[in-house]
Amino acid sequence: MRKEFPRLLSEGTLGPLTLRNRIVMPAMDQNNCTEDGLISDKTLQHYEDRAKGGAGLLILETSAVKWPDGATSKHQPSLSSDAVVPGLEKLAERAHKHGARMIVQACHHGRISGLDISRDVPVLVPSTPIPSFDTLGMAHNTTTEELMKMATLTGGKLPTFKEASREELEEVIEAFVEASLRIKKANLDGIEIHAAHGYLISTFLSKAWNRREDEWGGSIEKRARLLSEIVRKIRKKCGSDFAIVVRIDGHEYGIENGITSDEASTTAVIAEEVGADAIHVSAISSSGTGVGFTEGPLPWERCQYSELAKTVKSAISIPVIAVGRIEPADGERLIAENSCDFVAMGRQLLADPELPNNLINDSPEKIRPCINCFVCVAQNFWNGEPVCAVNPRLGNYEEKVEVPKKLKNVVIVGAGPSGLECARMASNRGHKVTLLEQTRSLGGTALFSSLTTPKNGELINWFERILKDSEVVIRKNFLADSKSIMSFDPDVVVIATGSQSSKSNIKGSELPHVLSRDQLKALLQEANSSEIIKGRKNLSYLLLWLGRKSGLFKNVQKIRKLSKLWMPLG
Ligand SMILES: Cc1cc2nc3c(=O)[nH]c(=O)nc-3n(C[C@H](O)[C@H](O)[C@H](O)COP(=O)(O)O)c2cc1C
Ligand code: SF4
Repeated sequence: MRKEFPRLLSEGTLGPLTLRNRIVMPAMDQNNCTEDGLISDKTLQHYEDRAKGGAGLLILETSAVKWPDGATSKHQPSLSSDAVVPGLEKLAERAHKHGARMIVQACHHGRISGLDISRDVPVLVPSTPIPSFDTLGMAHNTTTEELMKMATLTGGKLPTFKEASREELEEVIEAFVEASLRIKKANLDGIEIHAAHGYLISTFLSKAWNRREDEWGGSIEKRARLLSEIVRKIRKKCGSDFAIVVRIDGHEYGIENGITSDEASTTAVIAEEVGADAIHVSAISSSGTGVGFTEGPLPWERCQYSELAKTVKSAISIPVIAVGRIEPADGERLIAENSCDFVAMGRQLLADPELPNNLINDSPEKIRPCINCFVCVAQNFWNGEPVCAVNPRLGNYEEKVEVPKKLKNVVIVGAGPSGLECARMASNRGHKVTLLEQTRSLGGTALFSSLTTPKNGELINWFERILKDSEVVIRKNFLADSKSIMSFDPDVVVIATGSQSSKSNIKGSELPHVLSRDQLKALLQEANSSEIIKGRKNLSYLLLWLGRKSGLFKNVQKIRKLSKLWMPLG
């Protein structure tokens, strides 16, 4: 039991809270509240799944303290009236029932307040004019369909900016305090003040956005005033048994004069002095582009912000929560190295809520991997509910999993990710499952794409492990047709044969040595490979022939390595 992750799975103290382990689920919008920002059954189910899965601390997604003012979406949780308390109370019950603690991320979204923009309300910023950045940056890598969906968020309107007045800032502070009292009344365990990601407090902390010369701008101490006033007043009103976490940007990328890691450390020191119990270190890119988004807040690299967390940790004595593609082994190491005290795992807990339990039960191999594909968060750009490429339950909580009245004989054709998942689910529910695959390997296009995106290969390996322990009968090298399918006498046939790629229009793709996606995929899987090799009379032909004969194409890792030296296949 608990051999590999002694630190990650040990109890931890965060202010007044004792957490059963060091795994934190960070705030992640699910956008599934009612039109009035009230907690829905879907919201409850989402968080209960993660509480049951064993995480120590859950942080409710970003919730608007002055909803609908300063809110990004109607469907995000509201904290602005007493009507929200009963829903939050249910949330507390569902989390506590399974031994998790739960706090609420509270925010004023400042310049990114979609609901204000849609209602022609100017959005609050520290200073006008705002710094020049690529306001249409996100549009450069976006399809027309996606752009249309994005436009619905704000009714197609562009923001107008208003320099926040002293009165408006006092109102914001008061709204945070009232929100905290509601959270406390609902029996939740504390608050996370969202001072990161380009929202109102974050823009006050940033020299790039805050060029004020009054008591709210200038030195970092003055720029941190909005944050420190909020923390101080909440501590005073809510007392010492209420946890206060502050989420900050450890660095602001993509803009001149953005927040530096030294400034982030000073902000953390100030927050500690005025009563914060922990600092959660994330990051932001203010470039406004799609690529910038992977600099912050949705990192692409493993442990992308760990150094930022370490820098902050060295400046303060309260605990630090690190975040940013931290997998369990990295989390264990980061705690051991004293880079942080707690580890937030966001997308991994969307992909597999049972991650902590699998570590506790010493079965890390059972954890369904997040493939770092950004499908979930893309929904947030157009007000959708996140769905997940590997976990079909995310965003589909209304679909009841019922015990089948009659067990069926299910035949599935195609062992790509959807066929594999279908087999896993049907077998879990007790059906008799036969999975037919025409090639010698599982995974379909996902296996092929693992050449460039190894994470996809991890997913296929996971399916292989899980199905090996199941009752599913897998028939590889099986070319299914109606006759062979009917020979299994199925009650249900699922066709999961995937898609075919369209012909590339990239210049040069017609050259004889260039292979299309489908051709390369077939080669790897040895389906129709003789036909593909036939007719290629140059060096590529020889290499392809050798590759097939030597069995090289059976090993994705070897092909990946070879392709780095020389790309003979394309
Ligand atoms: C679908 C989705 C929604 C998110 N919503 C929020 C949010 O409401 N507030 C916030 O501070 N961060 C939000 N984030 C960022 C996460 O809290 C986290 O910092 C980020 O995903 C990096 O952690 P990870 O690599 O472990 O996923 C969101 C991320 C995702 C994937
Ligand atoms: S697999 Fe993709 S969609 Fe699912 S959590 Fe990970 S990044 Fe998000």
